Amino acid sequence: MSRRTLAVVSAGLGRPSTTRLLADQLAAATRDELAGQGVEVDLRPVELRDHAHDVVNNLLTGFPSATLREALDVVSGADGVVAVTPIFNASYNGLFKSFFDVLDSGALAGRPVLIAATGGTARHSLALEHAVRPMFAYLRAVVVPTAVFAAPEDWSGGSAEGALRARIVRAAGELADQVRPRPAAAPPDPFALTTSFDELLAGRDPA
Ligand SMILES: Cc1cc2nc3c(=O)[nH]c(=O)nc-3n(C[C@H](O)[C@H](O)[C@H](O)COP(=O)(O)O)c2cc1C
Repeated sequence: MSRRTLAVVSAGLGRPSTTRLLADQLAAATRDELAGQGVEVDLRPVELRDHAHDVVNNLLTGFPSATLREALDVVSGADGVVAVTPIFNASYNGLFKSFFDVLDSGALAGRPVLIAATGGTARHSLALEHAVRPMFAYLRAVVVPTAVFAAPEDWSGGSAEGALRARIVRAAGELADQVRPRPAAAPPDPFALTTSFDELLAGRDPA
């Protein structure tokens, strides 16, 4: 059986968080899909709420703390990424955006990514298409076609929850199809210089 890792990034601020719940369901569905294809998956949750202060400090100083570095390495070293944000003001929230702002440039290039969001109204579901998908396209990720949005009614049981489940299974199948044929990602080299000293002295990676 081959092995792959999946980073499961969630940017919910609540506890408990529907964003985390959606991320976990997407990750489990992808793991089950890949298991059926003979691929064992390690799920690596990255709950951004736990790194919020470090993300802001990284934006101000240009350097991550040790714990944020670990979280960033989980994402850079994963074979696939599930990325879920709550919708704030018709877009991703600031924490989600800032985390991907401090991720090493190029880290997601060619990497399969499943995008998803939670929101207070289904009327904002297209924020995934006008905000989240373009950001990952800019980062040159391979974003799967199905983006999953969950509104409050999708958690209330009945047909809406059944429809959410169907969207989750479809998106997970698409992510599995992208992850399986790719060779397993090499773990990040902690000694690799990704930024020149000139760029470090200037305080920012120019990419
Ligand atoms: C500042 C703020 C702005 C929000 N803006 C929107 C919005 O524009 N559209 C929407 O559907 N929901 C909006 N919401 C609702 C959140 O997206 C929703 O509560 C989210 O699912 C909470 O996720 P969590 O349970 O993981 O904390 C907003 C919430 C906050 C706090």
